[in-house]
Amino acid sequence: MLDLHTINAKKLETLIEINALINSDYEDIHVLLTRIIESATKLTEGEASSLILENPEDRMLYFEIALGEKGTEVKRFALKSGEGIAGWVYEKNRSLIVNDVESDKRFSPEISQKVKFPTRSMLAVPMRMKEKCVGVIEILNKRDGKSFSEEDLQWLEIFATQAAIAIENARSFQRIKKEVFQLHGQIQIEKGYHPFVGKSKAILEKLEIVRKAAVTDSSVLLLGESGVGKELFAEQIHLGSARKDKPFVRVNCPAISETLLESELFGHVKGAFTDAYSNRKGRFELADGGTIFLDEIGDLPFSVQAKLLRVLQERTIEPVGATAPRKIDVRIIAATNKDIEKEVKESRFRTDLYYRLNVLPIYIPPLRERREDIPLLAEFFLERCKEDVKKHIRGFTPEAMEVLLSHAWPGNVRELENAVERAVVISQGEWITPHSFILRSLSPTDEERYRGKTLKDAVNLFKAHFVKRTLEKKGWNQTVAAKELGIQRTYLSRLLKELNIQK
Ligand SMILES: Nc1ncnc2c1ncn2[C@@H]1O[C@H](COP(=O)(O)OP(=O)(O)O)[C@@H](O)[C@H]1O
Ligand SMILES: [Mg+2]
Repeated sequence: MLDLHTINAKKLETLIEINALINSDYEDIHVLLTRIIESATKLTEGEASSLILENPEDRMLYFEIALGEKGTEVKRFALKSGEGIAGWVYEKNRSLIVNDVESDKRFSPEISQKVKFPTRSMLAVPMRMKEKCVGVIEILNKRDGKSFSEEDLQWLEIFATQAAIAIENARSFQRIKKEVFQLHGQIQIEKGYHPFVGKSKAILEKLEIVRKAAVTDSSVLLLGESGVGKELFAEQIHLGSARKDKPFVRVNCPAISETLLESELFGHVKGAFTDAYSNRKGRFELADGGTIFLDEIGDLPFSVQAKLLRVLQERTIEPVGATAPRKIDVRIIAATNKDIEKEVKESRFRTDLYYRLNVLPIYIPPLRERREDIPLLAEFFLERCKEDVKKHIRGFTPEAMEVLLSHAWPGNVRELENAVERAVVISQGEWITPHSFILRSLSPTDEERYRGKTLKDAVNLFKAHFVKRTLEKKGWNQTVAAKELGIQRTYLSRLLKELNIQK
């Protein structure tokens, strides 16, 4: 065992510090583990290190953390149980010091050759949960050509114990948090609400405004491009208000024909018009005590605008054919992607109604102005739809995420949602790559692409596009692409010239 008298203050300090961290911060287990591994590497004077974890599903060992010069590259690899020194340690559940790696037959030189990181010496210790090995920490190359000592190994074992506790705690915490979150989400989803995702500064600011707006009973006007999530903000306002257990009634104004809109909104009495066979409650009455969400209010016909204004002013509705108005208690949230001030200026929208609705305007910024939300939303949509398709997808490659991060997203979150769903459906491997995306700016719609073209030109254009996509998908390997296209390689190279296809 370590002799307490010889433990130097630095080591003890580090240990105490990590202990404190383990007992405090479970929000980001990765950060915590990185801290532990960094400290272990420093204290054992290693040049590089990794924390390798088993994946219970495929029983493979993955590099959760890899520090050092080639860390990023190392992370692409996975080990089988028994493979290499880390695999041996995992399989045998025993620690190991190897000070001459080359002559140890357990060593598998593959990774270190591939990433060009010559390994000389190694320390590897198991991480255990309830005696069972769940992963390995390894330290590579003691600095200045020195050898790892028994004391280094004992230190590393202490760190491995800490790391295992941290992982176990974090996993329980995450599991419980997820369960609570899912149960809560499930309840909301069953009621028709959407989970809200976002952490960008811009979105958090808006949510703060929403939180304040929610408790007032004022009308809210949500502004912003199509697909930014206005409906979700409306839900958040309702759910943050005292009306949250009362109905949230959605009305998509342009989806209802002008002739029916009035009776849809305000109801009608029997016999009010030809098809009015019985009394019918309108959406306002259905929302009584709760909130009504008027989506695309900019498309509300002028005639209905006057009636809506009266509802806002008098807090009463008048069903079609009714002789007396009825009192209602409804909060109004409206949304539009139109430039509503322009609509007002050009007399398509009533000024007085605009002022009534515009008590609390909230502008939701487009996705391209809050790119920090992209990874979060992408992961969220991925998680949600990979369950539906029953595919084992581990995530997005860094290149794929780069594509998502740099796209302009003219269709905002809705477009991202569709892009991820499509990618999940067409992706074949464990990772989503850039080839899985068909993004709007890269591929205009057929309508746009073929407009004004002759059949011959359109066919050629299609051919060029199709061939190019296949080539891109196959990394511009013509032999493989020709095979996929079902044509001869020579014909493919002729097509490239004829259709002027270039990388
Ligand atoms: N913050 C968000 N978190 C999760 N999903 C979102 C978010 N914002 C938008 N979405 C999703 O994007 C799509 C478009 O949102 P929606 O509220 O209908 O946009 P808008 O009303 O502004 O056109 C919906 O499917 C919605 O679930
Ligand atoms: Mg909408």
